[in-house]
Formats: sequence, structure tokens, C-alpha cells
Amino acid sequence: MKAFQVGLWSVWLSGFVLIGLSLYSTQRLPTLKDRIRVTKLDQEAVGDPDNPKITIFSAPSPFNGSVGARQSLAIRSWLALSAQIIVVLFSQDPSAVSFAVPFGSRVLVEPNIDFTFLGTPFFHSMIARSRSFTSDIFVVIDPETILLPDFISTLNYAYELDRDWLLVASSRNFSYFPYYLDEAGKHWQRGDGKWVRTQELQELLSKIWRWNRCEGRMLMAWNSGDWPLHTGVLPPFLYGKGIHNHWVINEAVSSELRFVFDASWTISSFHLNHQDHWPNGIVGDSRVSDIENRRWEYVGNSHIGALYGSLLYREANYSSLIKLLKCSGQYVFTNTTEKTVYPYGYQSARSLCKRRILHSWWKKRIVACVDAIKSLDKILDCSLKDQMRPSAPLDLSFSLESLLPLIADKNKTIVLAVAGYSYKDMLMNWVCRLRRLLITNFMICALDQETYSFSVLQGLPVFKDPLAPNNISFNDCHFGTECFQRVTKVKSRMVLSILKLGYNVLLSDVDVYWFMNPLPLLHSLGPAVLGAQSDEFNKTGPINLPRRLNSGFYFARSDNSTIAAMEKVVKHAATSALSEQPSFYDTLCGEGGSNRVGDNRCVEPETNLTVHFLDRNLFPNGAYLDLWRKKNVKAACVKMGCFVLHNNWIGGRLKKLERQVLSGLWDYDSSTRMCLQNLP
Ligand SMILES: *[C@@H]1O[C@H](CO)[C@@H](O)[C@H](O)[C@H]1NC(C)=O
Ligand SMILES: *[C@@H]1O[C@H](CO)[C@@H](O)[C@H](O)[C@H]1NC(C)=O
Ligand SMILES: *[C@@H]1O[C@H](CO)[C@@H](O)[C@H](O)[C@H]1NC(C)=O
Ligand SMILES: *[C@@H]1O[C@H](CO)[C@@H](O)[C@H](O)[C@H]1NC(C)=O
Ligand SMILES: *[C@@H]1O[C@H](CO)[C@@H](O)[C@H](O)[C@H]1NC(C)=O
Ligand SMILES: *[C@@H]1O[C@H](CO)[C@@H](O)[C@H](O)[C@H]1NC(C)=O
Ligand SMILES: *[C@@H]1O[C@H](CO)[C@@H](O)[C@H](O)[C@H]1NC(C)=O
Ligand SMILES: *[C@@H]1O[C@H](CO)[C@@H](O)[C@H](O)[C@H]1NC(C)=O
Ligand SMILES: *[C@@H]1O[C@H](CO)[C@@H](O)[C@H](O)[C@H]1NC(C)=O
Repeated sequence: MKAFQVGLWSVWLSGFVLIGLSLYSTQRLPTLKDRIRVTKLDQEAVGDPDNPKITIFSAPSPFNGSVGARQSLAIRSWLALSAQIIVVLFSQDPSAVSFAVPFGSRVLVEPNIDFTFLGTPFFHSMIARSRSFTSDIFVVIDPETILLPDFISTLNYAYELDRDWLLVASSRNFSYFPYYLDEAGKHWQRGDGKWVRTQELQELLSKIWRWNRCEGRMLMAWNSGDWPLHTGVLPPFLYGKGIHNHWVINEAVSSELRFVFDASWTISSFHLNHQDHWPNGIVGDSRVSDIENRRWEYVGNSHIGALYGSLLYREANYSSLIKLLKCSGQYVFTNTTEKTVYPYGYQSARSLCKRRILHSWWKKRIVACVDAIKSLDKILDCSLKDQMRPSAPLDLSFSLESLLPLIADKNKTIVLAVAGYSYKDMLMNWVCRLRRLLITNFMICALDQETYSFSVLQGLPVFKDPLAPNNISFNDCHFGTECFQRVTKVKSRMVLSILKLGYNVLLSDVDVYWFMNPLPLLHSLGPAVLGAQSDEFNKTGPINLPRRLNSGFYFARSDNSTIAAMEKVVKHAATSALSEQPSFYDTLCGEGGSNRVGDNRCVEPETNLTVHFLDRNLFPNGAYLDLWRKKNVKAACVKMGCFVLHNNWIGGRLKKLERQVLSGLWDYDSSTRMCLQNLP
């Protein structure tokens, strides 16, 4: 079926090119009627400096295949409406840039927002980023929704309102739309190359009331104004799953900061029916599309539910929204649940009731018009109750085995962090830092269900350790505690399983701050060498003294020596009452350091694994040189040429967190749940 559709599209597209060509060569003489219309259209398109500047935001999938063609058509339809329109595409895909280039400054590509590891953008991050653009009106729209000119007239009308507003408009659903935009992107054409009048299109659309509000392909527009859209904090919704629109509308209505109305009846917007579901994600990978089709913001876990709960479960009710209608050429606001019409100069929601008195002749016509629409509207309302109900528990359904090939770099290397819930802000800070360094081959092993759900909501590649102890989400899981011992033993066990699956692992605790990407250097150590941070705090002397191996930052290669040695470590740790850190040292360097070689190595005789203690100036631990007490930690470390700095040698989670935040080695905003580099 998909292949058939692609075929159909290519027939359409090539037909369209041929028609364009034949039009160009044979039909150079438009009729008088056409010419008049063209002049009018051109005038509109030139853009009136008095008209508001409109910025349209969208997050397209890669421009490829039928999805790409639909997106391209939609975006060209927006640009055709007015020269006052600028389009901003949130995307990290090179195809978006290639698409944008021919449009010059009218189409911009913005990659600096938070995305999931599968490439789906976060809606809260898009909205935050939209604030860094200046415009009179902001619009967020689905990338496949086509707009007709009444969009502009409606926005121009709304722009005259004397208070801040937010409008929503549902998109209609066409299974077949027989028109094409010409090459200049200005006129709609029939299959035979004849131009179609805009009015005709709008009439055609006005007969089709196939809205699907539940699906949530709607556009939102708001004036720049003084008031925010709502008072709540937008949860980390994935873009394109619909729920985020309902959430914003609900919050906007209940915040009462802006006048919220439904302009579905005056804005002609539609999309073409197709088999594939919402776009985004990596197209063509069935595992991925399966996951992307889930509404990730669904919350099936009570802990996360407590975070966003009341906000998520509130219902959107569209029939109680004020509607904007155009009756007898006049814009009128109406509340269809009571029989009220508010004509002409709308002033403020509070003065609505004073303006109900109308001339009777006009009233009759308007009421007839409103009634007609009301009867249709009944069918359209969608109960979101079922959709918002927390469904199956949050689950990425990715196993360790299926994540590895998606995440690993070309050297089959991954960066692994093992984290529990009390360290979730540290985890996100670490993730934001890696993203900033453009390192994408990291993954998270969650020690508990809370961390797992949290990570899924944040779009991180995460898996659960099925053998992890349950009882580790508490504040005092720091060095020396029994909890710490159990957690660290999970780490070596996970590293060993990944090595056995054929991938190299850089294990990094989340309290290791990364200044530069250490992977090329670690890789250059070669096979059968394990590079590990030294916990030596002395400025001089050997760095491989007993118990100086830090098991919070090490690089293990997937080779026979390393695997055999790690097996010994895991075995030793399993029977030890201590944490795994001494197991590492005692197993690899021998008790008392009997396997030491030189000042910075050990060689384990049975497996021939070399432990290479990393240069303390490049990979300093938290005690070395008292770096954390420096006035400017970052500058001190950069001067030394640090790759990483470990926030260890400090007791207590809160002290550790405080030290890191105060030093400025902090890249995450926990109130908005976004990486600082992506905040405007
Ligand atoms: C584009 O789509 C085709 C099939 O629809 C697929 O084979 C191809 O890999 C895609 N290309 C990219 C760059 O995604
Ligand atoms: C669009 O309309 C068709 C009927 O023409 C319907 O079968 C289909 O489910 C609708 N699709 C969506 C996404 O609403
Ligand atoms: C519309 O009318 C209903 C019924 O009187 C009322 O409850 C609701 O608040 C009104 N809606 C708005 C947005 O004023
Ligand atoms: C929406 O509100 C109207 C009137 O306020 C009510 O009659 C209707 O049942 C509500 N719809 C849902 C889905 O709750
Ligand atoms: C495990 O949980 C219990 C309560 O369920 C708590 O009393 C105990 O301290 C926890 N264990 C550890 C090692 O913290
Ligand atoms: C990948 O391997 C190549 C060749 O061994 C090496 O030059 C490169 O630095 C490695 N890249 C990373 C990120 O480790
Ligand atoms: C540090 O190293 C020097 C020289 O090797 C040695 O004399 C001194 O005792 C060491 N200090 C500590 C605290 O280990
Ligand atoms: C690693 O071990 C496997 C099986 O034990 C063996 O087949 C393989 O040749 C070894 N590889 C190297 C490089 O020694
Ligand atoms: C370790 O290296 C020595 C000498 O290079 C070699 O004789 C021995 O077979 C190696 N052992 C293993 C387990 O690879």
C-alpha cells in the first residue's frame, strides 16, 4: 500500500511538472479574468508593511518520499499567502537545510532545541526557542497542513483585537485533493493546468467538515503581546502527538491571561489523508515508528504522574470555547453552548455580556448562521477522556541489545551512565553536557523504575537492569554506604554484558563533568588496555598505588583480554563485602599492587590486560590540586587541558550537587526541563 502511494505521488508530481512545462510553453496567454486575479493576488503577496509580521514554526520530518512531498506542498502554501510570513523549521536533518536554501531568508532552519535520541523534537523546547524570534504573530502548525488565504485575513482581524489572544484552528481531512501549487508557489491549479480561484477552494473546503480534533492536527496562533500563553510549566511533551495542543489550550483557558478562541470556521486548513501516522522519527525503521507512535507523554507511572499529574488529566473541551465565525461577511464571536453572539469590535471577555444586544434583522441572519454551524459542531467535539487516561506503563520497549546498534558510533563504542533517581538532575546535567559536545553515542542504565520513566520522558536512550537492587533511590547513596556498594556492582556487571555483545564501553559516572570528548584519546590506547581514572591526590609520585583505581570513569574495549579481566572483577565483586572499586584494583593490579608496572600501569598476568592510569592532569579526580575549591573551576581546568573533572571526594549528594552548581559546571535547567544551551 505504501509503495502504491509513493507511486501515486510520483505520478502526481511528474504530472505536475509536465503540466507546468506545457503551461509554460503553450498557455502564455491567460484569460482576462485570470489576469485581473493575478494582479490582485500579487498585490496581496507583496506584503503590506502595516500588516503584522507572522512567524510560522513547524518541525518537519526529513524531506524524503511522500512525507517530504506533502511537507513541501504545505510549506509552499504558507509562503504563498503573504510576504510577511517567515517560516522556522525545527530540524537537525540536512534535508531540511536543502529544502530551505532556495527560499532564502523566508525559511530558516533551527537545530538548537531538545530532541529525543530518535530525532523527535520536544514541544516545550520549540515553544521556548520561539521566544528568541521577534514577530507580531507566532504560529505553530503541523508540517503537512495546507493553508488558504483566509488564514491571513483571520490573523489580520485578530491582530486588531484589543487584548492578547490565542487562537486555535483544527485542520480538515481530505482523502483526495485534486489541485497543485504552481512552480512559483502562488497559484493553485487543476489537473488540466487551469488556475483555481481561491474562493472556489474555500467553498470546496467549507463543505467538508471532517475535522478530527482528537487527532490534534491543529494550528495555534498568538500575538506577541504582554501576557504569556499560560501560567503552568509546560511538561516535556513530544512534538506531534497532539496532546500538547490540548494541554496548552486548557492551560491558556484556565490561566485567563489571554482571550482564547477557536477559529476553525474562518481558517481553511487541511491535510491529506495517508496511511502513515504522524511524521518524525527515523522513517523506515519499523521498531522506531512503533515506538514513536506511542504518546510518550502518557503517564502510567505514579511517580511521574505526581510530577505532571493534574496537568495532564485535565480535559480539553472545545465546544465550550468561544468561536470566531464569519456570517454575512462579518466576523462574529459566539459561544455556542449558550446562544450568544458578540459582533463587531470585540473588546474583552469581561465586556462580552454587555454587547449581546443586536439589531433584530441582522440578529436573525447571524443566529441562523450560528445555528447551522452549531448543529455541525455537535458531531465534531471529541472527548479526550479516553485519550488522556493513563494507559500502559511507560515503556520504551528497547532492550539493551536493540539500543546498542542504534546508539553506538562507527567504532562500536558507547558511553554508559548508570543512574538512580536521586541523581536525576545530575544525570540530565551530564546529558546536556554531552549533547553540547555533540556526543550522541551515550546511553543510560536505569537503576530503578523512576529513573527509567524519567529518562523515557526526557527522550533518552535508556534500559533497565533487570537484576538491579530495588532499594537504591535515596539521598545517601554515596561513597562508603552499602547502597553505593550495590550500585557500583551493577556498573561492572552492565559493562561486562555490553563488552560481550561486541561494543566498547566508556563508563562515566554522572558526576564526571566533561570538558572535551575523550574518546579519540582513549581509543588510541589500543587493544587489551583498560584506561581508568586514578584517584591519586598527590601532585607527584606514582598514580597506580593500591586502591587508586577509580571505577567511575574507565574505558574498556571489547576484546578477549578485557572481557576475561572484567569477568574476574565481577566475580570478585560479587563475593566481596566492599564496593567494586577495590575489586577492580585488587583483581587487576594485585593486592598491594603486586602487578604494578612503572608509575602508571598494571598488567594482569592471567589475561594480559594492561590497566593504564590516565594522566591526572588530563583526567583529574575531585581531590587533585583542590580544583573544586578554585575560584573559577572551569578556567583552572581548561588551562590544564582537562578532558574531564570528577566531582568525587565529597560526602553527601546535596553537597556534591551544590558544589557543581555553584562552580558553574551546570548545563541543565530543572524548572523547564531543558538544556541551558537550548534556552533562548
Ligand atoms: C528516503 O526514502 C526512501 C524510501 O521511501 C528510503 O529508501 C531512503 O533510505 C530514504 N532516504 C533517506 C535519506 O532517509
Ligand atoms: C479522514 O477521513 C477519512 C474519511 O474520508 C477517515 O476514514 C479517516 O479516518 C480520517 N483520517 C483521519 C486521520 O482523521
Ligand atoms: C459559554 O457559555 C457557557 C454556558 O453559559 C459558559 O459556561 C462558558 O463559560 C461560556 N464560555 C466562555 C468562554 O465564556
Ligand atoms: C463540554 O462542555 C459542554 C458544555 O459546557 C458539555 O455539555 C459537554 O458535555 C462537554 N464535553 C465534554 C467532552 O466534556
Ligand atoms: C531499604 O528500604 C527500607 C524501607 O523500605 C529502608 O528502611 C532501608 O534503609 C533501605 N535500605 C537501604 C540500604 O537504604
Ligand atoms: C575511531 O577509531 C579510529 C581508528 O581507530 C580513531 O582514529 C578515532 O579516533 C576513533 N573515534 C572515536 C570517537 O573514538
Ligand atoms: C606525595 O609524594 C611525595 C613524593 O613521592 C611523598 O614524599 C609524599 O609522602 C606523598 N604524599 C602523600 C600524602 O602521599
Ligand atoms: C578470542 O577468543 C575467541 C574464543 O575464545 C577466539 O576464537 C578468538 O580467536 C580470540 N581472539 C583473539 C584476538 O585472541
Ligand atoms: C600473555 O602474553 C604472553 C607473552 O606475550 C603470552 O605468552 C601469553 O600466552 C599471553 N596470555 C594470554 C592469555 O593471552
